[in-house]
Amino acid sequence: MKILVVGGGGREHALVWKIAQSPLAEKVYCAPGNPGIAELAECVAIGAEDVDGLLAFAKENAIDLTVVGPEAPLTKGIADRFKEAGLLIFGPSEAAAQVEGSKAFSKDLMAKYNIPTAAYGNFDDRDAAVAFIKEQGAPIVVKADGLAAGKGVILAQTEEEAIQAVDEIMVDGKFGDAGNRVVIEEFLYGEEASFFAFTDGKRVLPLASAQDHKQVWEGDKGPNTGGMGTYSPAPVVTDEIYQQILDKVLQPTVDGLAAEGCPYCGILFIGLMIKDGVATVLEYNARFGDPECQSLMMRMKSDLVPVLLACAKGELDVSELEWHDKAAVCVVMASGGYPASYEKGFEILGLDKAAMMDNLTVFHAGTSEQDGKIVNTGGRVLGVTGTGTTVAEAIETAYAGVGAITWEGVHFRKDIGQKALNR
Ligand code: AMP
Ligand code: GLY
Repeated sequence: MKILVVGGGGREHALVWKIAQSPLAEKVYCAPGNPGIAELAECVAIGAEDVDGLLAFAKENAIDLTVVGPEAPLTKGIADRFKEAGLLIFGPSEAAAQVEGSKAFSKDLMAKYNIPTAAYGNFDDRDAAVAFIKEQGAPIVVKADGLAAGKGVILAQTEEEAIQAVDEIMVDGKFGDAGNRVVIEEFLYGEEASFFAFTDGKRVLPLASAQDHKQVWEGDKGPNTGGMGTYSPAPVVTDEIYQQILDKVLQPTVDGLAAEGCPYCGILFIGLMIKDGVATVLEYNARFGDPECQSLMMRMKSDLVPVLLACAKGELDVSELEWHDKAAVCVVMASGGYPASYEKGFEILGLDKAAMMDNLTVFHAGTSEQDGKIVNTGGRVLGVTGTGTTVAEAIETAYAGVGAITWEGVHFRKDIGQKALNR
């Protein structure tokens, strides 16, 4: 088969890495890819959001299966366009991708189908939003309805902060049209976990558990990022919580979307808050998590390609995934200053040394090749991912890799995975 992966981050590097190991994959392309991906696949210079360009490429090259990494092309309807053209694609339709594209849509879906989530209100009027904040009091959470590159959620400790957030989003237009509507919701406490399942719109195939470290500094301090590191499995997802997620969240979500006329085909990412034995949904995403995907792909034993293909065909006939009996830990190495502004173009040293280490894979995200050198060009630059028989061993392996690599200004958290040990 000829397979095209759309995207160029660490998640897509991990997907390409796993797909390329499949006996079914004769040729793997990635658009646009990155220098790490280029070692495994043919990178083509088409942007991940250039739906017309991607469709033309897939037709010209008789691509058998396209796998979409990021959310933006999904919310632009890439899956619908490929299907209309008779091409197989892994990823939800534009209508189903609203679970990520519109927080108001996903909150209403959860309310309608009794899926546990924070109490909320949706507002397209600034004054009504402010009145609701005054009525509810702080702390309170303000969310831009649409896609805001992970920056549209404000955890307000005071009413003033919440009102300021509403004004920035709705009046100043900080996130453009994504902020025409806001969701205001109850502040939840607990431990977060990421839960993933493949689905063909009816059947579900859950993946192993994972946990992300969102904040930029050790001890979960500082601003939220796209994710500074992950580990899998996540002990917070006990067998009871796992079953609860399947029964009370996953299947009702998939059934609810089908009942709404937008069956979900692809991978559904459920962000959860877990407290006192109860899992509550924070959000849905229409894609793999980044960097959850890096840890999960290192642990997955099953061939990924038949699963992607079955979902794309709407015939998910795989009943269970096999996992290596190992833990995985991914440490993100970021540009100094991220998630705010940072300097680019520094040469990354030590990649050759890390490449020789056992049980370690360095997934590229924000890297480029300049004059034969690999340099940093994004906020999150590398996902250094190690495996081990225990989380402690995986941590050791991942940080040995991190220790081999450096560039000017590099930042990484030193406590990735510790949460799993401290339980
Ligand atoms: P979201 O994009 O909705 O997942 O929000 C991003 C992050 O904000 C989540 O991963 C949580 O860390 C935090 N968050 C979102 N909603 C809430 C909430 N209702 N209570 C507390 N924290 C939240
Ligand atoms: N790591 C969280 C996300 O991909 O949204």
